[in-house]
Amino acid sequence: MSEPVPAATRGAATGRAGLRRAGLRRAADTLRLVARVAALSLHRPRRPDRRWDDFWRGVSEGSLGEPIIWDAPGAGNEEVRHHLQAMAGLMDTSLPVVDLGCGNGAISRRLTEIFPSVLGVDVAPAAVAAAQSTHRHIPGLSFRSLDATQPAAAAGLARELGDVNVFVRGVFHVLGRRRQARLANSIKALLGATGRIYLVETNVQGGALSYLRGLGATGNRIPGPLRQAISALPKPGHFGAGQRSRAFPARHWTLIAEGPAVLKTVPMEAGGPPGSIPAYWAVLAPRA
Ligand SMILES: C[S@@+](CC[C@H](N)C(=O)[O-])C[C@H]1O[C@@H](n2cnc3c(N)ncnc32)[C@H](O)[C@@H]1O
Repeated sequence: MSEPVPAATRGAATGRAGLRRAGLRRAADTLRLVARVAALSLHRPRRPDRRWDDFWRGVSEGSLGEPIIWDAPGAGNEEVRHHLQAMAGLMDTSLPVVDLGCGNGAISRRLTEIFPSVLGVDVAPAAVAAAQSTHRHIPGLSFRSLDATQPAAAAGLARELGDVNVFVRGVFHVLGRRRQARLANSIKALLGATGRIYLVETNVQGGALSYLRGLGATGNRIPGPLRQAISALPKPGHFGAGQRSRAFPARHWTLIAEGPAVLKTVPMEAGGPPGSIPAYWAVLAPRA
């Protein structure tokens, strides 16, 4: 006959087995999630700029019918209000502003509340077409298509506009390091001697799976707006203080302010609350 096992030991063994089972379930779920993401990513267009234009064309034509994941919900939403307040306190709002990577122009329009004129620019002609048709006849607001990582495009715009401020939301984190540095150089050209940049970028710690899980993805189900983004868009990265100091080195830039932020997304489920992505914001000025 075997020795009786004390209750405390039995409880610990059951607890360990439970933990192991939970760990195995989690690992299996992760495998399923990775497989789903890989399958969704298969048909992404190869060239990043093509991806953006294809995405915006799909949205306009209705073949991409899910809400756009980063569209801050409601024109009066809290996130945009926070950006406007910070910009009003830290930038010369008598200068115009360029909304770099403006997408459908929803935030460009809000920028007209504090800046005398707003130019939304985007690499995707289809985004600019959508922005132009949605936000017609708004005094001081215009849009155009250009690749902001191209030095010649930025230099031409700088000559045309003189010193401006720049607003960037959610563009650096989808670019590789080299293109981030080029975008920062373009921004320097646009700011001239008196402009400043305000940037806000997603800054999720822990890699792609944390990002996906944070927005409700599991091995069994990926919410529609997220599924659409995975299948049609460049893979997002994170952009925090470390990435910012590489793209905006201290020998060329003065950091005016920085901090954590929250980037609001559309609800992941119809009728649900908006999602939140941990983010990073900063205001910088070029050194003379
Ligand atoms: C994640 S979306 C953010 C849109 C908008 N800023 C917002 O927050 O609603 C990124 C946008 O940047 C644009 N973009 C990406 N690379 C760009 C580039 N090199 N020059 C200009 N726009 C770019 C994309 O077309 C896309 O509309």
